Amino acid sequence: MNAETGRAPRAHVTGWGRYVPDHILTNADLETMVDTNDEWIVTRTGIRERRVAAAHETTASMAAVAGLRAIRTAGIDPEDIDLILLATLTPDYWMPSTAALVKEAIGNQKAAAMDVAAACSGFVYAFATAQAYVTSGLAKHVLVIGAELLTRFLDYTDRGTCILFGDGAGAVVVSASDEPGGSLGIEMTTEPQGAYMIWLPAGGAKAPPSSETIRRGEHYIRMEGRETYRFATKTMATTALESVSRAGLTPDDIALFIPHQANIRIIEAVAKGLDLPMDRMMVNVDKYGNTSAASVPIALAEAANSGRIAVGDAICMVAFGAGFTSGAATIRWTVDPARGIAGDAAVDPSTVHVRLPVDWDAVDPIPAALAEMMARPGPVNPPLDDVVPDEPARPATEVQA
Ligand code: UT7
Repeated sequence: MNAETGRAPRAHVTGWGRYVPDHILTNADLETMVDTNDEWIVTRTGIRERRVAAAHETTASMAAVAGLRAIRTAGIDPEDIDLILLATLTPDYWMPSTAALVKEAIGNQKAAAMDVAAACSGFVYAFATAQAYVTSGLAKHVLVIGAELLTRFLDYTDRGTCILFGDGAGAVVVSASDEPGGSLGIEMTTEPQGAYMIWLPAGGAKAPPSSETIRRGEHYIRMEGRETYRFATKTMATTALESVSRAGLTPDDIALFIPHQANIRIIEAVAKGLDLPMDRMMVNVDKYGNTSAASVPIALAEAANSGRIAVGDAICMVAFGAGFTSGAATIRWTVDPARGIAGDAAVDPSTVHVRLPVDWDAVDPIPAALAEMMARPGPVNPPLDDVVPDEPARPATEVQA
């Protein structure tokens, strides 16, 4: 509560950032691994390529880079963050939380840190939690991250799942402010009748990891694609509508929807359900596939950085996922979108480190099916520090020696 105005603070998005790994797994690569083809993947999903984290990368390391970029965009110090919420279904470990590792990696001493488990809706759920902390006065700056390393949890003999998912991280800073705008309306649903439509059977208390669970392939993501598709097309538009109407707006007032990037056909169904043209939907599923909890914040950051969001715009983020869960948040954008590009450039991923225990080495984390692709030089992004100022950046697809 603001002592002078007697009003609760509002929750504004003041920073945003993203990180995606350099390695690109194309549909052509997948054609060599499983019985699929580019034409099927593109027409049924809209996905052309996805990113794969390198062996030295983890969910925490990607989250820390995206988080630091969001902090730089917000123009604050890591130490100003008093709560870190990290949405993920692929944490580095069962414990500690990945958020705790991120807190150390970004150089913050004071924040409380916790993970949020709501699958692909996780970022929206975490954003809603941040809003509650900020508007209640419990936190001033909350770092909300969605980060996933899904390519290590896929069965590369299951063409129904392995073509869909990719790795990456996105983040926002949610800050207290007395100015108008910020978070306006939130809707969240959980429908457990779909609990086993997308799930990862083993590794938890019901089926602890063992040679038998591994023999059965129960450590991989399983999905009933058609049922999930049906749920998504049913729930996304209604969840978005509820959030928009709680904000006192109509879909027509929303400059840009940021839908979870699972499948272009699902996004088209959302547009149809809201009676809006596709140019009001942010789409980048072609470049990254489904990055679960990371997909909305990556898409939000790219929308802002590419000039698709202006100060004063109303934006609606909407997601669905395992649980089944769905969530939507409508916000009024109040920060110069141009800040994001500088925020991204200010953080070189090679300078961000997640501490490892001194007496333990992880086994090689790269799935055998991806090892050959990861070993060969391929299309990668130029490292941030490899572009000489005043020289044109090299194209992202250049093959490096
Ligand atoms: O974040 C939430 C995560 N989950 C989702 O978003 C998934 C939602 N579901 C979907 O996006 C779609 O259901 C899929 C993309 C997973 C599948 O598309 P679909 O149009 O529902 O295909 P389908 O499962 O009905 O399969 C149609 C055919 C089948 O062959 P038959 O039985 O008709 O001969 C499949 O075996 O396509 C076959 N198929 C494939 N063919 C080539 C399934 N996967 C592939 C593949 N390549 N990768």
